[in-house]
Amino acid sequence: MEYRSVRGMEDMLPQDAWIWRELETKARKALESSGYSEIRTPILEDTAVFVRGIGETTDIVSKEMFTFLDRKERSLTMRPEGTAPIVRAYIEHALLSISPVSRLYYVGPMFRAERPQKGRLRQFHQIGVEVIGSSSPFADVEVIAQIDGMLKLFGLKDFNIKLNSLGCKDDKAAFAKKLKEYLGEKSSALCDDCKSRMDKNVLRVLDCKNDSCKEVVKGAPNVLECLCDGCKNHFEKVKTNLKALNIRFEEAKNLVRGLDYYTGTVFEVTHSALGGQDAIGAGGRYDNLVRQMGGADVGAVGYALGIERLIIALKAQGALPCEENVVYIATLGDEAKLKGMHLAADIKEEIKLDNMVVLTDIGETSFKSQLRSADKNKAKIVIMIGDDELKEGKVIIKDMSGKEPQATIDMGAIIEEVRKMLC
Ligand code: HAM
Repeated sequence: MEYRSVRGMEDMLPQDAWIWRELETKARKALESSGYSEIRTPILEDTAVFVRGIGETTDIVSKEMFTFLDRKERSLTMRPEGTAPIVRAYIEHALLSISPVSRLYYVGPMFRAERPQKGRLRQFHQIGVEVIGSSSPFADVEVIAQIDGMLKLFGLKDFNIKLNSLGCKDDKAAFAKKLKEYLGEKSSALCDDCKSRMDKNVLRVLDCKNDSCKEVVKGAPNVLECLCDGCKNHFEKVKTNLKALNIRFEEAKNLVRGLDYYTGTVFEVTHSALGGQDAIGAGGRYDNLVRQMGGADVGAVGYALGIERLIIALKAQGALPCEENVVYIATLGDEAKLKGMHLAADIKEEIKLDNMVVLTDIGETSFKSQLRSADKNKAKIVIMIGDDELKEGKVIIKDMSGKEPQATIDMGAIIEEVRKMLC
């Protein structure tokens, strides 16, 4: 084959598109009904937005960005994540002047030049949420409850919410110092990546997957011991209120996250169906980012779910959303075709199902070949209208699963019959 899609970037084919549409529709409804508004930022940003926002020494910025110079030699980057661009847009359009707290959501593609494997792509998609303008622990509780509720709404079971706190900027710096001292004595047991992380981004040693590093990290100091009173209090309130809402979580002292902007609460949602890349979603508080990027001193918290990973987990669990309900109207002759079009409009008007598709055949072929086409289109129901049926005011209805026998019924009864057969 001469042309193929770029490595790690997948086509979304018509047979899978319904899953995406279904998940996105559910997510949008859930978010909008909780007061979140959609924001769409461009795919390309000035590279500085990410270097400043995510941090120069992070894996994302140092190794994984698709960065290039445009015709005027400006450095542009395809967004590897949504938070930094949203903060850029929040400042640029003075969203703080519109409301003290902005509840924003986004759905779209992100790009990271990682080594592709199951659940790890170079173009992947996120559903994300950012609450900007609140430092309250209740904002953390709100977004964690939201991710929990959203996953349950999708029908996902057996996911784990891991929770930690990194403390404020000073706490983080104090912990990094303590950790460096501890690791300094054991550096010979660390992998090469972690040896260089010791200077650049020591916290990341804590979530290295290398066995020898994991062993070293077992005895590492606990970040919670370095929290100031304010951060300790904040974290306690988050935990107490999550428990009060019956949201299950586990504390994970080594959860640090791979982006520098996090301070305070961090969390990750994992699922065993994913293997090595087990995070379906993740997020946390980033109280310094808005100010650091030139805006006001406001607190913020958010998360992003990886849609491809979510679909892997839902598939593994047999919990994909109900497939599209395709109703296929097969007709013979011009008069029947016109009748079929009227009927299609009536079905859509009367049966308001988000996942219903009504197809009318526009060819001049036999019923047999129209049934083949209905089968290819994964039709659940075929309605057949020919000359005889027209004359008698009847239609033939066929359940393509074969559970119900084919039947000839009055035209007036067809909508109720279709309604009964769809899910
Ligand atoms: P992240 O942990 O880098 O956080 O990504 C969030 C989710 O995106 C991951 O848990 C995973 O499901 C998915 N993901 C990340 N990389 C890939 C990949 N290469 N292939 C497939 N899926 C992937 C963020 O992006 C933060 N912006 C989240 C956030 C929002 N924090 C605060 N607000």
